[in-house]
Amino acid sequence: MSEPAPATSTNADVLMSLNDVVRRFGALRALDGVTFDIMQGEMLGVAGPNGAGKTTLLNVCTGVLPATSGHITFDGQAIRGMPPNQCCQLGIARTFQIPQIFSSMTVRENVATGAEFGIGQGGGGNIEAHVSDVIDLVGLTPQQSNSVTDADLLTRKRIMLAAALATRPKLLFLDEPLSGLNADEVDSFVALFQRLHAALDLTFVIVEHKVRALADLSERILILNFGSVLMIDTPERVLSDERVIDVYLGTRNLA
Ligand SMILES: Nc1ncnc2c1ncn2[C@@H]1O[C@H](COP(=O)(O)OP(=O)(O)OP(=O)(O)O)[C@@H](O)[C@H]1O
Ligand SMILES: [Mg+2]
Repeated sequence: MSEPAPATSTNADVLMSLNDVVRRFGALRALDGVTFDIMQGEMLGVAGPNGAGKTTLLNVCTGVLPATSGHITFDGQAIRGMPPNQCCQLGIARTFQIPQIFSSMTVRENVATGAEFGIGQGGGGNIEAHVSDVIDLVGLTPQQSNSVTDADLLTRKRIMLAAALATRPKLLFLDEPLSGLNADEVDSFVALFQRLHAALDLTFVIVEHKVRALADLSERILILNFGSVLMIDTPERVLSDERVIDVYLGTRNLA
């Protein structure tokens, strides 16, 4: 696919840039002219009503779905239309709303699959040591030899996160990482993301309906509504904005 020259950003702190991105499903514009930048090193939260286009946004940013039109750059390079493996090689990783792991493998084998998938990303070193480091970072060392068949939701989420981290991403997209977790599990995952952010040179984009946790994690929050950016600002400003309360927060349990 030929990609017209993108509007290159003059800001060296921009890691990914979206410019007027549209994704259509038939007549539906699931993304309807989305423009924003993801800054190097930030934790960016994304929220919005069901069906607003959050997962579609992650899909077009990670190569899972091509955008219908618009420009997406990563590290200054045009990536619209690139397949997921190529996006991964560049340093873009993601987790899924429903944990996707290989049931016939052990915990460690699942994480190693991520390491092999991202091998272009400064791999070449000691893969086994890298896999052990990632497993340790997410707290899976005691279970690493277990089969994943009987793993509970929290463990499945940890495995999927570890496999994504094992690809050595620069930019990691998480799709509802806290869904289905109880209050204690949410707290432990929030602490884990904060540890990972402090320990690794990693930029996070976190899609999440649990807005209190999202506000604790994020430096900025983007609200998507009907495929468009309603607002992108600090958590305080976003969560007190009347438009955001009208279209989203008013309908949600903030507890
Ligand atoms: N593969 C697809 N084919 C057709 N329509 C789709 C497809 N994927 C998503 N859609 C539609 O696009 C819109 C955006 O869906 P998306 O899954 O991105 O929303 P979301 O914000 O992630 O919602 P949720 O909070 O429920 O996860 C919805 O109307 C959805 O039905
Ligand atoms: Mg979704």
